[in-house]
Amino acid sequence: MTILSNQQYRLAARPIGMPKHSDWSFTTEALREIVDGEIVVQTIYISLDPAMRGWMNDAKSYIRPVAINEVMRAGGIGKVIVSKSAKFAVGDYVSGGTGVQKYWIGSADDKIAGFYKVDPKLAPLPKYMNALGMPGMTAYFGLLDVGQPKAGETVVVSGAAGAVGQTVGQVAKQKGCRVVGIAGGKDKCDFVVNELGFDACIDYKTGSVKDGLKEHCPNGVDIYFDNVGGEILDTVLTRINMKARIIICGAISQYNNTTPVKGPANYLSLLVNRARMEGIVVFDYIARYGDAVKEMGAWMAQGKFHTREDIVQGLETFPDTLMMLFEGKNFGKLILQISDE
Ligand SMILES: NC(=O)c1ccc[n+]([C@@H]2O[C@H](COP(=O)([O-])OP(=O)(O)OC[C@H]3O[C@@H](n4cnc5c(N)ncnc54)[C@H](OP(=O)(O)O)[C@@H]3O)[C@@H](O)[C@H]2O)c1
Repeated sequence: MTILSNQQYRLAARPIGMPKHSDWSFTTEALREIVDGEIVVQTIYISLDPAMRGWMNDAKSYIRPVAINEVMRAGGIGKVIVSKSAKFAVGDYVSGGTGVQKYWIGSADDKIAGFYKVDPKLAPLPKYMNALGMPGMTAYFGLLDVGQPKAGETVVVSGAAGAVGQTVGQVAKQKGCRVVGIAGGKDKCDFVVNELGFDACIDYKTGSVKDGLKEHCPNGVDIYFDNVGGEILDTVLTRINMKARIIICGAISQYNNTTPVKGPANYLSLLVNRARMEGIVVFDYIARYGDAVKEMGAWMAQGKFHTREDIVQGLETFPDTLMMLFEGKNFGKLILQISDE
């Protein structure tokens, strides 16, 4: 193998509030030769996820924090360019934990990277980072397993135009629910209604969520899929029905807080309505991802299910591109492209 030069973003410091450029270091190093059982993956796409902000904190969570000087953890899709493993051949496209770097090198059986093949003939590669990947699995199992929707029920989802939100709303529509999104801005609201088929969308940046819920959920809220936490969660809690289900998927409004996370003040609504609030961690469903891909893939093939990706170019843009998530600047699943397919 000709010696390739790898480039990586490593965590340099634990951010306080919004991450800054100085929280990262950009490093260059030569790739070593591989030994038997190993592969080199050239990263093509990196998935940028709100969870990355949590992984930068030194706090107990469902996964250990990224260590200082470690390559930033990220899911990615790449092409196997060197292989000494029977599991993957040169030219295979794989999805797994590439990290924020140009090349991944290691054992083809590495459990943490967890590479598996993806087929660009079945779906464009970016779709495997959206509905057919981690955000889609989160939406599908969070809604169906935790939320248990029934036809005719009203489902509200925040972060509606984002990666998880797009899929939640469309799966809920497929299951016969009335779906109301909450998103920031007219363009995002128009998109989820006109292109994804939601029944309505509340623009929380220009209007009142409380008034929007009154108008668009005249029969109350049976399921709230919460991607944002904070004030919006509190407001939705005032409109829930008897036996409502609140799915705690994320709380992006709180991730860069320098003060403690704001909990829901209106939680007694759960008591009054005999409702439940339950968290979801997507990795609990790995064994069942295939079922979700099969069902959503079929809806896509039938033209009944659409997704939007927001692809930004260049590894060197990583620190700024990641921030788009927290500024609401991404429109669809945020992906960083760092090499050609
Ligand atoms: N539990 C799990 O296993 C799991 C797995 C994946 C993702 N998640 C969570 O799911 C949520 C959505 O993730 P995603 O990947 O689909 O991201 P995304 O929705 O594609 O992007 C983030 C969006 O959040 C919205 N946002 C940012 N700051 C906000 C604020 N202060 N208040 C309200 N909305 C705000 C913005 O949309 P607007 O322009 O509409 O404000 C932004 O575009 C996140 O909370 C994430 O942590 C959880």
